[in-house]
Amino acid sequence: MLINNWYVAARAHEVGSTPFKSRMLGLDFVLFRDSTGKAHCMSDMCCHRGGALHRGQINSDHIACPYHGWEFNTGGACTKIPAMGDGITIPKRARIDSYPVEERMGLVWVFLGDMAEEERPKIPDWYEPFLNSPDWRVITYDYLYSDVNWVRLGENSTDTAHPAFVHKAFGNRLSPKANIVPIQDMPYGAKTVRERAAPPIANKTGAIAKILPTDRKTTRVTLEFSMVGITEMLYQEMTTEITQVLFSARTPIDEYNTRSYGFQARNFLMEPEHDAERLKGLLQAADEDHNIVRFVKPKLTPKSTTEEFLIEADGMELTYRRKVQEYARKFGAIDRDAFERASPSQIMVIPSPLRKTDPKGWVHKTVPLQNAGSSEVMAAE
Ligand code: FES
Ligand SMILES: [Fe+2]
Repeated sequence: MLINNWYVAARAHEVGSTPFKSRMLGLDFVLFRDSTGKAHCMSDMCCHRGGALHRGQINSDHIACPYHGWEFNTGGACTKIPAMGDGITIPKRARIDSYPVEERMGLVWVFLGDMAEEERPKIPDWYEPFLNSPDWRVITYDYLYSDVNWVRLGENSTDTAHPAFVHKAFGNRLSPKANIVPIQDMPYGAKTVRERAAPPIANKTGAIAKILPTDRKTTRVTLEFSMVGITEMLYQEMTTEITQVLFSARTPIDEYNTRSYGFQARNFLMEPEHDAERLKGLLQAADEDHNIVRFVKPKLTPKSTTEEFLIEADGMELTYRRKVQEYARKFGAIDRDAFERASPSQIMVIPSPLRKTDPKGWVHKTVPLQNAGSSEVMAAE
């Protein structure tokens, strides 16, 4: 799992003035809004004796641990140790990691890593023109891909050969041949434009079946993905006038479970009464993918392509894997094997930006990283 990346921790409405727990990259985080409404995200583990902060409460913009009442400000510094009484000097080491937060698109994005602000990659802004535009009707949908690794999910959604077999409503088994088209390299991802055979009109149901031309031959799909936020956008032109645009950000809850935060914008059937039918279609497609990918073996992408028989039509999936590796080399990734070997008595957190400028004096060790001496990355003061 990649560190030094933005992840969606919650929808904006889920985070309020009481603590909210979000699990990302196999670790727990606590989020809350201060009295000005600004959202904050911190490691959920109290540095005293590991109390779960999301079970605590907010006192004057500080989070109070439910176990012995230690309080931490939004920067993660401890401001109160009740058992030591008033008027004490609180040691600097009594602190927890606090992470940068940005709210965009009605989502709370958290930067899980220690890079300075000016070095951080930017959250993709592709979808912002579709939000709050009178030309588009947008619905949101969230989906829990239980038992699905986030890379396996990314491979599935960049795979243009599977709709013919997996999605009856928009794939066509009678024309399964995938067009091989150039893949455009993007800074943290890639982009491609493909046409696929439209399904027989009889496979469409509801209001959309009434507006699509019966002799429609193809759907043109522009697909772009980025490792930043594990995001992707699908621009689906069913005809030159009937288009829908999907965006999703995927957050690894851990190596084996993934949460997807999605949007769909459409420029047809704009009345709200059509939302339920569009949502039903989205959830059906998500269920169809889920019911394929959660049974794929191995659970995690093989380390070598010689363990599979790949064909030219798998180009986008291979590009996806390559981009995961490039991001991991550039920004860092958790050493999965070392992380999974860690005993339940070991405490680990994602390093926050303050550790870069102030590396000494932390209670919690940081997660082991790939390609780094584990003794070095796990060392803590
Ligand atoms: S464990 Fe949090 S105050 Fe003791
Ligand atoms: Fe799919």
